[in-house]
Amino acid sequence: MQISFRNCIAFHLLLLSCRLLYCVETQDNPTIPAITKYFNTKGSYEELNPHLKEDILAVNRSILQPPSAQCREIHLTAIVRHGTRYPTSKNIKKMQQLYNIILHNASSEHSWLREIQSRWTMWYSEDMDGRLVQKGVQDLKHLAVRLSKMFPSLISEEKLRGGFMRFVSSSKHRCVNSTLAFIAGLTELWDVTDKEFDHAVNDALMRFFDRCTRFVEEVDNNPSALLEMDRFKQGPEMRRVQEKIADRLGVPLSLITHDMAEAGFYLCAYEFAIKAVNSPWCQLFDHNDAKIMEYSSDLREFWKRGYGYDINSKSSCILFHDAFSRINRAAIENKSGQQVTEAVVVQVGHADTLLPLLTLLGLFKDREVLKSTNYAAQSRRSFRTSNMLPYAANLVFVLYDCGGGDLRLQLLLNEKPVTFPGLTGRGAAMPLYEDIREHYRDLLDGCDFETECQLLKVPAEA
Ligand SMILES: *[C@@H]1O[C@H](CO)[C@@H](O)[C@H](O)[C@H]1NC(C)=O
Ligand SMILES: *[C@@H]1O[C@H](CO)[C@@H](O)[C@H](O)[C@H]1NC(C)=O
Ligand SMILES: *[C@@H]1O[C@H](CO)[C@@H](O)[C@H](O)[C@H]1NC(C)=O
Ligand SMILES: *[C@@H]1O[C@H](CO)[C@@H](O)[C@H](O)[C@H]1NC(C)=O
Repeated sequence: MQISFRNCIAFHLLLLSCRLLYCVETQDNPTIPAITKYFNTKGSYEELNPHLKEDILAVNRSILQPPSAQCREIHLTAIVRHGTRYPTSKNIKKMQQLYNIILHNASSEHSWLREIQSRWTMWYSEDMDGRLVQKGVQDLKHLAVRLSKMFPSLISEEKLRGGFMRFVSSSKHRCVNSTLAFIAGLTELWDVTDKEFDHAVNDALMRFFDRCTRFVEEVDNNPSALLEMDRFKQGPEMRRVQEKIADRLGVPLSLITHDMAEAGFYLCAYEFAIKAVNSPWCQLFDHNDAKIMEYSSDLREFWKRGYGYDINSKSSCILFHDAFSRINRAAIENKSGQQVTEAVVVQVGHADTLLPLLTLLGLFKDREVLKSTNYAAQSRRSFRTSNMLPYAANLVFVLYDCGGGDLRLQLLLNEKPVTFPGLTGRGAAMPLYEDIREHYRDLLDGCDFETECQLLKVPAEA
C-alpha cells in the first residue's frame, strides 16, 4: 500500500487532473500502461506473472502439488516461445505511416500528442524485422534459471554435462538466439565455461504450419478463412474505436484505417515490451478500445491457429507425437530400470507453434466460437491470447514417478499447472499418465501429420 500511495502522489503532482480516488482504485502506476492486459501476443511475461516483477527468479515449488511426497520428476519437455522481439518490417512500415499522420495532420491540444510530435522519435527501422531484443535474451535466461530451480534434479549441471539435455530451435533468428540465451542462462548459473552445448534446428517440428499443405492452402493462403475477423474490422465496435482515435488526434476519420489503429496499439505495446515505458501512444486507447483491439487479434488467432478450423490444430500432430513418444520412451526406460536418456528437451518456436498445440490438447475452448457478431457475449471467453501467449510463453510436460510404477504427467503453462481438459477432480494437477494416454487415445492412435495435411482430393467428375 505504501508504494502505491507514493506512486499516487507522484502521479497526482505530475498530472493535476488525476483524481485521488481514481488513483487508489486502480493502483495506477504511471510507468505501466493501463491497457497492458490486452496486448495479445505482444504482452510481457511479467505482466502475466506479476510476482516476477519483485523477483524475476522467484519460483514456488508448492504449486506443483504432487499427490505424494515420493513423486520424483523423471522427464521434462518444454515448448517455449522466443523472447521479446522487435516488430516485423511490415508492422514497422505501418507504425511509420501513423507517425507521419501524427506529425503532419494531427492538431489536437493533448499534451501526450505534443509529446509524440516534439519529443518521441521514430526509432524503429525496417531492418529490425522481428529480431530478438536484449529484453528477449533476458526473458529466456531467466526462464532457464527458474525452471532449473523448479526442477533441480532434471535441469541440473550434471544432466547438461552428461548430454541428457537436448535443445531444438526453429530456424528463425529470434528463436535461435532465444535457444542460445536459454543455454547461456544455465551455463552462467553453473559457471560452465569449459564446454559448449549444441542445439538442433528443426523447422519440420517447430514451424510445422509452413509444411502442412492443407493448412497453407485452406487457411493460411485463403483470404476467406478470416472472414469473421474482416467483418469485425468493418463492424460498429471497431468503427467506434477509429472514430475515437481520429477525434483524439483531430484528424479526418478517413486517415484512421484499421491498420492505423492497430499500428498505434502496437506502438504502445512495443514501447512497453522493449523499453518498459508507458509511452504517449498508449493515450490513443481507453480500456474499451483496447478490449476491442484485443478481440480483433483474437479473432485472427482463433480462425488462423485455434479452434476456427480443425486443420489448424491438426497441423501440430507432428509436435504432439514428438512430445508424447519421448515421454513414453522415458516412462519405459524408467520402468525397465534404465536411465532416462532424454531427461530434458527444450524446443524453441513461435506463438504459432504453441497455439495449435494448446488447441489440439483442448485447452481454452469456449462453448461458442468467436465471431464478428458476438463481441459482447465473448467478453468472458477463455480463448484470450493475452492470457496465454506472452513473449517467452512456455508449455512444459513433466513426467513423475510416484513409486510403485505410479507414473504421472503434469502440464504447466507459463509455469502454472493447468488441468488437462476432461481430467478434473482430485489430483487433477498431476493425473496418472495412463489416464492421459486414455484421454488422448484418438490423437495418439491417429493424428498423423502426413495424412491430416494432405489436400483432400476432389473426386473427378464423371
Ligand atoms: C506458494 O504457493 C502456495 C500454493 O499456491 C501458496 O499457498 C503460497 O503462499 C505460495 N508461497 C509464496 C512464497 O508465494
Ligand atoms: C495530411 O498531411 C499531408 C502532409 O502535410 C497532406 O499532404 C495531406 O493532404 C493531409 N491529409 C489530410 C486528410 O489532411
Ligand atoms: C543474435 O545472434 C546473432 C548471431 O549470433 C548476433 O549477431 C546478434 O547480436 C544476436 N542478437 C541478440 C539480440 O542477442
Ligand atoms: C525411475 O525413477 C525413480 C524416481 O526418480 C528413481 O528413483 C529410479 O531410480 C528411476 N529408475 C532408473 C533406472 O533410473
